[in-house]
Parts: sequence; structure tokens; C-alpha cells
Amino acid sequence: MARDVWHSRLGFIMAAVGSAVGLGNLWRFPWMTSENGGAAFLLVYLGVVLCVGVPGLLAEFVIGRRSRRSPVGAFSSLSDSTLWRVFGHLSVVIAVVLLSFYSVVGGWILRYFGASLTGAYFSNPGQYFATVSYGLDAVGFHLLFLAITGLIVVRGIKRGIENATKLMMPAVVVLLIVLAAWASTLDGAGAGLAFYLSPDVELLEADLLGILPAAAGQALFTLSLGSGTMITYASYLDEERSLAADGAAIAVLNTCIGVLAGLVVFPLLFALVGDAGTGGPGALFVGLANAFVAVPYGRAVGAVFFAVVSLAAISSSISMLELPVSFLVDEYGVSRRRATALFVGVFTVTGSATALSPGLFDFVAGTLVDLLMTAGLIGFLLFTGWVVGQNAVTEYELGAGAVASALSTPWLYAVGVVIPVFLIFTLVSGIAA
Ligand code: PFF
Ligand code: NA
Repeated sequence: MARDVWHSRLGFIMAAVGSAVGLGNLWRFPWMTSENGGAAFLLVYLGVVLCVGVPGLLAEFVIGRRSRRSPVGAFSSLSDSTLWRVFGHLSVVIAVVLLSFYSVVGGWILRYFGASLTGAYFSNPGQYFATVSYGLDAVGFHLLFLAITGLIVVRGIKRGIENATKLMMPAVVVLLIVLAAWASTLDGAGAGLAFYLSPDVELLEADLLGILPAAAGQALFTLSLGSGTMITYASYLDEERSLAADGAAIAVLNTCIGVLAGLVVFPLLFALVGDAGTGGPGALFVGLANAFVAVPYGRAVGAVFFAVVSLAAISSSISMLELPVSFLVDEYGVSRRRATALFVGVFTVTGSATALSPGLFDFVAGTLVDLLMTAGLIGFLLFTGWVVGQNAVTEYELGAGAVASALSTPWLYAVGVVIPVFLIFTLVSGIAA
């Protein structure tokens, strides 16, 4: 059977934006921002997105389209070294680690959607999170989230992922704009916007090195970089069109939607709670739930908000499941149905483990993910720079305009040398911190 391909350029972009925009923008970003000094963090993060994110995205696209295989196959078809072949399998491991906690948070979101409608958390938002976040309830909603993810992935690239994300992403954008406009009218919104938008220059100078690893980790996470999901999605491209143009469009859209999400979340948190919260993975849930309890039409607003987050989360989780599924399909000729069923089974177990253990969850969702994705991206970049080499430049230039083409050789140096050095530095200072 012929390998599936995207139906249209827009479909590919929507799917990739769908992978990028997710809990990273709506949940992890406010969490990281409030723990790392607000706007100062935003600034460093935007810098890393531009200087590391966009070239990195291009490296993954080049590997994917050049090989037309999922990451494991891509590494073995573009090089004959056993070392790289083994490295390729790391992408499957990373995707498994990612979805094992992502699906738990996705479950919380689905639950809060329902609980907003019924008002279940209205009497005591703090206690509500404590009772539903870890334990058998969390396992149940994790399984629901996983089932939805599986039902989309099993339908394949065009009929499943492309169709779903083409509907979901425009809905996310429109609803976020409506919510941001509404949030700006709240009392106290100004303080939230100030925390979010005016950088504390002193903090930046005093603690740039402290902020950098978290900002770099978040920049990779938000663009879905370092796990190979973008390699996988690019492997379903068949036309020759500018990867640079697509990559830039995806990074810009993800950043705009991320900033927009902040314009919703921070005014809400500040309007009611008076600060960005105490941090931790539950902060957003507790803070926002408090906000929805207090504002007019809180149930409806809360439901709309958590519906948006659900759509964003599902459009990302499908990319995490697609990676291991495509691995079995490409490398072992397993049918998509069976591959999907098998990995849904794997995630049933691994996700339940993180849903039962807060300590495991924190470790996986924070440190482990940052570490693995940074290591993964360093590998993808070195591979592009040193193994694919001149062929990467050729692939990059296919369909590229004059400006993008002029940047192809500097790009190869950046991904082969400069960016890996920078990432190794952040990795080491992150471990040391
Ligand atoms: N970019 C997604 C988000 O911001 O929520 C998370 C993600 C998706 C990370 C896919 C990694 C990945 F491979
Ligand atoms: Na994102």
C-alpha cells in the first residue's frame, strides 16, 4: 500500500501548528512563566524560539521529507551507521514519555470542561484539584483522552489527522481571541498584563543563566521539537515546496497563539487571585477555577476555556501517538489499526502510572521531558549538519525563494555547530542548577 501523504499544503501546516499549539502554550507556559519571573522569561523564550526553534524545525523537516520515513527509518535510510540507527529509536522513547504525562493533563482538562458546566469545582476549587488530579479518577479521564487521540490517529494522515486539525485550529484561534477580549475587561487585568508584558530588566541581568535552561526547554516543548514528531509529519509531504516558508509560518502561528493564550490566562489569574499563583502544575487549574467562580457567567466562560484547551491538547497528542504508530507501520509493516491499538495499550499502562503518582508526574513532565527533548534535538541537528550535510542544503532549497535560499549555508553551520553548542550549554547548566 502506498504511504499516506497530506492532501494539501494547508493541511500539513494545520497539522504541524496543531502539534505545536497545545498544553505547552496554555498550561506549561503560564506555569513556567510565573516560576521564572514573568516577562523576563517571555523575552528569553521568544529569543530561543527564533534562533533555535526555527532552524531546528527546518532540520526536522529536512530529515523527514528527505527520507519519507518516520524517525527510526529516517536515520537508518540516511546513514549506514549503527550508532545513528540506535539513536533513531530514541524518538520513539521520547514520544512515549511525552504522551505518558500529556494524556494525564489532557484528562484533567476534559474533566474541568465537564466540571465547569456542572459547577462541580465552584464550592472549593483548591480542594477539587487535590481530589481529582491523581488517583483512579485521573486514570479514567486519562483513558478517555487517550481513546479520543487513538480514534483520530487510526483514521490515518488525510482522513484522521489532517481533517481533525483543519477544524480544530481555526476554532482554537477564534475562541481565544474572544476570551482575550473578554479577559481584558476584568478588574485587575492591567496587573496581569503588566506581569506578562513588561520585562524586569534587573532580573534578566541578574539571572539570565537561571532562566535560560527553562526558557530553552519550553521553546523546544512548544514547537514540538526534539522528539521527532515534526520529522514524522514532514515525512508525509510529497510536493516540493519551501520548507523554510512552512517552518516560519508554523513558528509564527504557534508564537502568536501562545502570546494570545497568555493574554487570556494572566488577566484572569491577576483579576481574582492578585498574582500569578504559587506555581506547580496545578496552579493554572486552581487559579483559573477560582477566577471562573468569581466572574459573571463563570460556568459558560470556564466551559469555553477548557473546550479550547481540549482541542489544543488533542491536536498535539495525536502527533505524539502518530510517531510510534508510524514507526511500526514503516519498519515492521504492521497495519495502522494494529499499531494504534498496540500503543494505546502501552499508554494505558504508562499514563496510568503517572496519573497515580504525583512525584513521578512532576519528574516526567518537567525535568525528564526537557532533558530528553534537548538531547533529541542535539542529535537531529548534528545529524543534519554532519551526516545529511550538503544534501540537507539541497533539500532545504527545493522550492525555496531567494531569501530562504541565501540562508541555506549559514543555516547548515548553525544546525551543525552553533546551536548544538548552545543546547549542550543549556543542558549542562540545567543539570547543574
Ligand atoms: N508542542 C506541544 C505543546 O506545546 O503542547 C507539546 C508537544 C507535542 C511536544 C508534540 C512534543 C511533541 F512531540
Ligand atoms: Na506549543
